[in-house]
Amino acid sequence: METLEEMKHKYVEKYSDKKLVFGDGNVNSLIMLVGEAPGGEEEKLGRPFVGRAGKNLDEFLLTVGIDRKKLYITNVVKYRPISISEKTGKVINRTPSWEEMMDFMPLLKKEIETINPKLIVSLGNVPLRALMNSKSITIGNYHGKEININGYKLYPLYHPASVIYNRGLKEIYIEDVKGIKKYIS
Ligand code: URA
Repeated sequence: METLEEMKHKYVEKYSDKKLVFGDGNVNSLIMLVGEAPGGEEEKLGRPFVGRAGKNLDEFLLTVGIDRKKLYITNVVKYRPISISEKTGKVINRTPSWEEMMDFMPLLKKEIETINPKLIVSLGNVPLRALMNSKSITIGNYHGKEININGYKLYPLYHPASVIYNRGLKEIYIEDVKGIKKYIS
């Protein structure tokens, strides 16, 4: 059977024109966090959630007493999806397409199988849709509730970046994050 490392290697070859950012953290973790895709900072440093959204995530984890080092963190899409801003002409992040998400699903499934976490925590709409195989569901209806899918437990959270733009979500977010603590201890 193909190993995670062998599969990663295939993606590296397929996307030789891109810098891929793979999962990172404690491979023995009981909890696996799944984000959308790397941004600029993640691409530069080669690790998921090290930019602004990552700082937010770290802050929330600390607030409820979870050490990030205990977790395994990855993204659905492993390269930075970009477009050019019409306004500024600069390179900006964009949401990955459904095709891009599906292209990386075999790798995410292999990561889940390899890490074998007790709980998968999706961050935002992209990983929720990818893992539920539904283009239209939205995080607003699912956040903070445990869902059983294909033999594993999924716990959807808002994306930590959404709290940057919507401060009203902060309290809800903290309550939701508290819900994952019991899976660690
Ligand atoms: N946002 C994500 O979804 N993933 C990252 O790695 C960084 C920001």
